[in-house]
Amino acid sequence: MTIPAQVDIAGLSVTPAILLAPMAGYSDLAFRMSLRELGGVGLAFTEMLSPASLLQGKGNKRKTLLATCPADQPLGHQIYGSHAGSLSKAAQWLSGNGATLIDINMGCPQRKISSHGAGAGLLREPEEAIRIAESVVQAAGVPVSVKLRLGWDHNRLVAHEMIAGLENAGVAAITIHGRTRGQGYTGKADLDEIRRVVQAARRVPIVGNGDITSPESARAMYNFTGCAAIMIGRGALSNPWLIRDIARDLANQPPLPAPSREERVAFALTHFERMVDLYGARGATLLYRKWIPQYLRRLLNDRQHMVALLQLECPETMRRSLTALAN
Ligand SMILES: Cc1cc2nc3c(=O)[nH]c(=O)nc-3n(C[C@H](O)[C@H](O)[C@H](O)COP(=O)(O)O)c2cc1C
Repeated sequence: MTIPAQVDIAGLSVTPAILLAPMAGYSDLAFRMSLRELGGVGLAFTEMLSPASLLQGKGNKRKTLLATCPADQPLGHQIYGSHAGSLSKAAQWLSGNGATLIDINMGCPQRKISSHGAGAGLLREPEEAIRIAESVVQAAGVPVSVKLRLGWDHNRLVAHEMIAGLENAGVAAITIHGRTRGQGYTGKADLDEIRRVVQAARRVPIVGNGDITSPESARAMYNFTGCAAIMIGRGALSNPWLIRDIARDLANQPPLPAPSREERVAFALTHFERMVDLYGARGATLLYRKWIPQYLRRLLNDRQHMVALLQLECPETMRRSLTALAN
């Protein structure tokens, strides 16, 4: 099986065919740009956005959710909800405000979302989900993709049955995360089921997603499922160099050395400064706490040090503490 170097999504050339997953609470401009700079990201996404946050959202919050820049391309804006009307309005608003690709979330397992019929809740009503996709496609004026789980639970694996309907609805690409809503993040992504979805597709590229944490697992996703592209989420949170390394491997380039301590610290500091630009110094310092376990775990000798970093409130102290980790 040859591994595709690029994928075409309704005329948008995604090169390499590696997508950075939408991740609520993480996929902001600061993270996307930090990863894009390392290389290998063919397409990135915003976190999932509610129609209300777009259509009625207040100044600053909406501004930071939507913050982007010319180098942050190509970019997909992801929306979630359960009503064709509000999702279509949100898609229209986004395309009128510069979005180039809109993705519909049909996979979020969180109870507060899925139990209200949004996210993976849409998989309980596949016909309605397809109808929603159709109305978003008609409203959007830019390509629309969909991101699915396999189904609500293992008794209802509906994804492969939805592909023809989604293609007829006019969607431009479909990402499939190889788990059900019931699994949450437990178990393993099911490559057999992803393959079943790939085999059901006639026209649109299928993006394989779930548990890609190494060049080997990326190759396995491509080779076993025959997908047109891959999407990577959690693996890139704890190892930001993962996507670069996978892109090099898939292009048959020799691996680069693992990042040095100094490079890790420089990366963490640059990400912090991008967050300062986005959220202001104090907001960034508080929000940066969630990155400390992701980025710095392997640079810290003991738990006490981690706990101390997690309590910082002063941006200057954060900068000094991060810089000191280089030695
Ligand atoms: C913290 C976190 C937030 C997420 N937020 C979103 C989201 O906003 N939209 C979405 O479609 N999926 C979201 N996901 C799911 C990921 O996009 C991805 O499908 C899932 O993590 C499986 O891929 P992975 O094994 O590479 O992480 C999220 C996952 C995590 C861990």
